[in-house]
Amino acid sequence: MINNQREKDLYIEYLKIVKSFKQYLKKKEGSFSDSAFLLHKLQEEIKNCQKCPLYRTRTNLVFGEGNPDAILIIVGEAPGKDEDLQGRPFVGAAGKLLRESLRYLEIPEDKFYIANILKCRPPGNRDPKPEEIACCLPYLKRQIQIIQPKIICSLGKFSTQTLLNTTRGITYLRGQKFTLPHGKILIPTYHPAACIYRPPWRKQFMADLKKVKQELERLSSTSY
Ligand code: URA
Repeated sequence: MINNQREKDLYIEYLKIVKSFKQYLKKKEGSFSDSAFLLHKLQEEIKNCQKCPLYRTRTNLVFGEGNPDAILIIVGEAPGKDEDLQGRPFVGAAGKLLRESLRYLEIPEDKFYIANILKCRPPGNRDPKPEEIACCLPYLKRQIQIIQPKIICSLGKFSTQTLLNTTRGITYLRGQKFTLPHGKILIPTYHPAACIYRPPWRKQFMADLKKVKQELERLSSTSY
């Protein structure tokens, strides 16, 4: 029972402090559980991964980079030499073509996140082995789960076949729009490295990325 004004004032002051402390805790909890934090936590967790023999020959594990809340994830195959050395995805010749194409189409960097099916470089850039994909795929799945993109653009045969769980060829699959079980849209295209060796493929590569942009515009509330 509160009897006098002074006690009443103190009690109101106390309630105010409790309320602001609760708000502070809620805010802190939110910032601790956001995508950037969860991605960082995952990266720390897997940075010394030894699930497959590729750890023996890697310089760096290439986790992925970009906006942790991106609407679009671009999924490549595996790090190459430059990526292995720098620990960043798509920084070599194929990356230059990819990033220039995205810039040309005015797809802003804050709209996407880039990752690979394999986080470590296969020696001599050989094709990923099924058992390596099986070891590494759960990491990409967790990245997708954290980022919650609306669109996935898979580059090349390996990422496309893995994400669609199919053995059909990339020439058949590219440019089509697939809806994945959780409603995410997947648009496959050629791998930019393949476009370097087969310049005629660049036209379809650009056409597919344009489709990705159209989907971005359709699904994004912000304008370009
Ligand atoms: N090729 C890929 O598939 N990923 C990279 O990060 C670089 C080249």
